[in-house]
Amino acid sequence: MNEIFGVVGAGTMGNGIAQVAARAGFDVVMRDVSEDFLARGLKAVDKSLQRDVDKERLSAEEKGAIFGRIKTSTELNALSDAFIVVEAVTEDLGVKTEVFRALDQITKPDCILASNTSSISITKLGAATKRPDKVIGMHFMNPVPVMKLVEVIRGAATSDETYERVRGLTEKLGKTPLECQDYPGFISNRVLMPMINEAIFALHEGVATRESIDGIMKLGMNHPMGPLTLADFIGLDVCLAIMNVLHEGFGDSKYRPCPLLKRYVDAGWLGKKSGRGFYEY
Ligand SMILES: NC(=O)c1ccc[n+]([C@@H]2O[C@H](COP(=O)([O-])OP(=O)(O)OC[C@H]3O[C@@H](n4cnc5c(N)ncnc54)[C@H](O)[C@@H]3O)[C@@H](O)[C@H]2O)c1
Repeated sequence: MNEIFGVVGAGTMGNGIAQVAARAGFDVVMRDVSEDFLARGLKAVDKSLQRDVDKERLSAEEKGAIFGRIKTSTELNALSDAFIVVEAVTEDLGVKTEVFRALDQITKPDCILASNTSSISITKLGAATKRPDKVIGMHFMNPVPVMKLVEVIRGAATSDETYERVRGLTEKLGKTPLECQDYPGFISNRVLMPMINEAIFALHEGVATRESIDGIMKLGMNHPMGPLTLADFIGLDVCLAIMNVLHEGFGDSKYRPCPLLKRYVDAGWLGKKSGRGFYEY
């Protein structure tokens, strides 16, 4: 029997990671808490692969083979033969800590435990296990099948060997690994979110209209979309949560979330997913 590439969580990121691993030839087991979530995850994989078949980037046979390499389970024990498990569950320290503690007990001693977290400390997740040297961050970007980057995050105790195995594996998945240390926001969100937050301050202070702020960053900096549009796409609640992680983590007022961002989140204007954010959808 082949070794298993494990994925915990069949949501937006988890099903994307499962698809990419199956495409690279691995036998995947994807675990979620209910059959409904698993079915929804598989449906998303099917739709994404079908798009490639329609565009003639993939044959129907290849699609069938990739799909056939993804098994699902609601049992954590289904991951006991995994050589790596990538965790992509809800962004909540308590939930993730529990998943890491359980994975530590049921997986083989040399299995790597990776987290796709956007903002939770890899060092803390490692400390919840008896193998902190084998715990690491693999921060895939959304949509996973399309985006090339995996930000690879080394916790305080992550070993060089674990890092090297994950670097090699990321390349096998057809992605580019870029390394950083475990500090709040890693690199991606530490640089991106303060820019978005500053754009919101500029709007709040009446420096420019939403269209002007987004247009200046698009046309002037060659960004594919403006920061306010991007915030709406990411979700304003997610943006606020990440600013809070930076603010608390560094204790530096330069990361304080803009009051307008808080106000929108309080109003339930969370961006595209709720039909209204800085724009209407
Ligand atoms: N969505 C993004 O753009 C994005 C980008 C990068 C990283 N992330 C990170 O990826 C992770 C997942 O985000 P998402 O957007 O895929 O979330 P999501 O809500 O789409 O999916 C989360 C899934 O985890 C499942 N889950 C919850 N607890 C579980 C448990 N104990 N065991 C197994 N499954 C469990 C849920 O049922 C759900 O299906 C988060 O840590 C998030 O910060 C998200």
